[in-house]
Amino acid sequence: MIRPAAARRLDAERARTFADSNDASVDPRMRLKPAARRMLYATIALLVGTGAGWLAVHYATAFDDLRRLALESLLLKFHGAAAFAMLIAVGAMWAHHARRGLAIARNRISGIGVIAMLALLIITGYALYYLVTDLTHTPISMAHWLVGVAFVPLFIAHLMIGRRGRTVRGRHTRRIKRKAAPHSSAR
Ligand code: HEM
Ligand code: HEM
Repeated sequence: MIRPAAARRLDAERARTFADSNDASVDPRMRLKPAARRMLYATIALLVGTGAGWLAVHYATAFDDLRRLALESLLLKFHGAAAFAMLIAVGAMWAHHARRGLAIARNRISGIGVIAMLALLIITGYALYYLVTDLTHTPISMAHWLVGVAFVPLFIAHLMIGRRGRTVRGRHTRRIKRKAAPHSSAR
């Protein structure tokens, strides 16, 4: 039996949609397991929280020098621990999430921004710990925390753009499924 052209077109579109590896709304590798997502957010919160805490203490006038140094040192102990955890998280995100996102061209601009900022944070963080002299400490410290503060809105934008992209693609996929459904059940 010869099927109408419209039905054949719908079939072809449906086949393309589900065979298409470019549709990340059906790609589980882009999404994190809830536990992994919570761990990542907690690590970032600790990283940013201790960095911001250091800034608050450093520029506050309420403390004498001894108290300020003690608080800064405590905050940096937690900051360093969070930074190590973040390095593991970045490695894990690179292995699947970021490479997959680049390959399927989803959320690329903000994703590359996230990676570029993390690279700057790692380089300036390393410099702060191992390389700085009395002369270079202040500019490198400022570069580090300015990038750190800017990282927060960029990361939130990355999540929002990623989520919106998934919804739009998901809707598109569902629409095609709905259109195709009457025909497939008639077979
Ligand atoms: C070039 C690099 C990257 C690209 C192209 C990219 C792409 C994406 C895409 C497409 C989504 C939406 C996934 C979905 O919900 O369907 C997303 C979400 C997300 N991205 Fe990225 N990403 C990159 C790098 C990173 C990095 C380095 C991190 C963290 C260190 C990260 C953290 C996240 C998180 C936490 C989500 C939310 C995932 C979820 O809701 O389960 N991304 N990204
Ligand atoms: C992957 C991300 C990051 C890494 C690897 C990292 C690493 C480091 C390291 C190694 C230090 C030096 C610690 C010490 O001297 O004992 C440092 C200091 C600092 N970091 Fe981060 N950091 C990161 C993200 C952030 C973020 C998001 C902020 C946000 C505000 C931030 C703010 C600071 C501040 C204020 C200091 C103190 C600067 C100083 O001693 O003059 N960092 N960081």
